[in-house]
Amino acid sequence: MAAHIRIPQTFIDDLLARTDIVSIIEPFITLKKTGANYVACCPFHQEKTPSFTVSPSKQIYHCFGCGVGGNAISFLMEYEHLDFMDAVKTLANQSGMNLPQQSATKQPSGDTNIFYILLEKATKFYQNQLLKHPQAKIASDFLKKRGLTEKTITQFKIGYAPPGWDNLLRKLNNNDKYKKLLLTTGMLIQKSSTSIYDRFRNRIMFPITNRSGKIIAFGGRVINDNDTPKYLNSPETPIFHKGHELYGLYEARQANRNLNRLLLVEGYMDVIILAQHGINYAVATLGTAITTNHIQKLFRACPEVIFCFDGDNAGRIAAWRTLEIILPLLHDNWQAKFIFLPEGEDPDSWVQKIGKKSFEELIQNADTLSTFFFTHLSKQINLQQIDDRARFAQLAMSYIQNMPDNIRKEMLIDALAQKINMTPEKLNNYIITNQKGSTKTTDTQAMHSPIRTVITLLIQNPQLIEQIDQELPTLDIAGMPLLRELYSLLKNNSQLTTGALLEHWRDSAEYQHLSRLANYRHLLEGPDLTAEFCGAIKKLRLQATESTINQLITKANTTGLTAIEKKQLQNLLKTKQNC
Ligand code: CTP
Ligand code: MN
Repeated sequence: MAAHIRIPQTFIDDLLARTDIVSIIEPFITLKKTGANYVACCPFHQEKTPSFTVSPSKQIYHCFGCGVGGNAISFLMEYEHLDFMDAVKTLANQSGMNLPQQSATKQPSGDTNIFYILLEKATKFYQNQLLKHPQAKIASDFLKKRGLTEKTITQFKIGYAPPGWDNLLRKLNNNDKYKKLLLTTGMLIQKSSTSIYDRFRNRIMFPITNRSGKIIAFGGRVINDNDTPKYLNSPETPIFHKGHELYGLYEARQANRNLNRLLLVEGYMDVIILAQHGINYAVATLGTAITTNHIQKLFRACPEVIFCFDGDNAGRIAAWRTLEIILPLLHDNWQAKFIFLPEGEDPDSWVQKIGKKSFEELIQNADTLSTFFFTHLSKQINLQQIDDRARFAQLAMSYIQNMPDNIRKEMLIDALAQKINMTPEKLNNYIITNQKGSTKTTDTQAMHSPIRTVITLLIQNPQLIEQIDQELPTLDIAGMPLLRELYSLLKNNSQLTTGALLEHWRDSAEYQHLSRLANYRHLLEGPDLTAEFCGAIKKLRLQATESTINQLITKANTTGLTAIEKKQLQNLLKTKQNC
């Protein structure tokens, strides 16, 4: 089934193996060779000293100034504004590979038009069903109960997919070609050669539009709150990439001649209800964590973005993650602000409670990025104490260092200096000396846990796979699932480069994390590198041994151990001693 939607990953692996990222980037940007890498002034942000780096061995690029980065496919997507399929096609052409037959994704991009036409027809169908279907009353009652007016329903083109397996199929399936296309757009699902059915059944339908107003996907919500999953979204398709789209952006642009701010919220209903209350500049990510790509889209659309979160702990954590993504990208003219809603409320419920005026006051009084940054960091720190002040400074500087060299960075440094009673010059000196003085050990210590070290070094140097034995991936340690996945990819294909490995996570939540590790600078080379890697693996084993020992000891103290377990404990204690 997936072959209809995606190009097989093995094809992408081959494609990246035959591509050299340097020769892809070189026609666009003058690269200068320094050591093993190439550098240039970053084409994605303004700078005078080059921080854009291309690594031929890893097959990735990365800007240490603004944080952009990725493999050859990512570069074409970012620089040439291609979508994923077109970037793959360009690379395939250059290396003389034919895209696999079978996949409907072979449609040349000019043909995406037919997808738009089909999804438009589907939208009309769902809208019509909301008005005319014999069971439409449950759907319209739901919408009424949620407070939606006719006008809002029309504005957001909300519809109703009635119960039944083949309503859309029968409506649009004029010929075999349409069936294939509908499969590719994810509107139909094929289980076997004879079984093909509607993806969306008995749901409220929210069409998702791209920036030019074309419908590219749907979100479908259950009508009965007890049904699951609450939302069903279109899968990734040639015209829909979840991590790139913002729900409501087109509508916000339509409603505002000059968009001067955007409010980022979590859900479809939040966007819609806010718009109905006159806050017609809200957009939402589509059930995914916010990505670099989202941030760039948001600030390309307007200079001020207010990020809205729940007031609970999870909301604070999500807000801090967002800030971490924004910092390395932060332009001087970007205004990022944060608001937190009372626990248990979302923008939909809250605006219905307090109304437009009070909600906009909340926005007016939003925390600036710098306020949120310092309050969050100083939560557990008592700035009256010298030791704590030093720790605070170090922590803050570790984030500020990643920012592009601009006025915002200097302002944050000034603000920090003031908080800890130090001059900005001293603080600045401190980073410089600290960076110069950093030795290999402190750098790898900064990688923190052994599992993180192993993943970092392995994704950067896939040949290290030889140092890992079969048993390691079976150990029960936090973070192991990711290492296990890396391990099995490399066991299947030891030729994968860093760039090709990252490709396997392109649309997943771990992508940002892995990409950060892939670019982590640790200054280790040759034998030092292998030694560090093997050292970390040894630590992992010890960690696993200790955790089993603790479990056994707990058991010994409660229910007692069996003879076999006693023996196991003895052996483990011996192993631990030998470590
Ligand atoms: N979401 C999703 N899949 C789910 C649950 C949520 O994709 N199973 C996404 C949707 O984009 C949803 C958003 O996460 O809009 C926020 O989820 P939630 O707060 O549960 O939904 P609301 O939009 O608040 O919807 P409602 O108010 O109708 O519960
Ligand atoms: Mn809600």
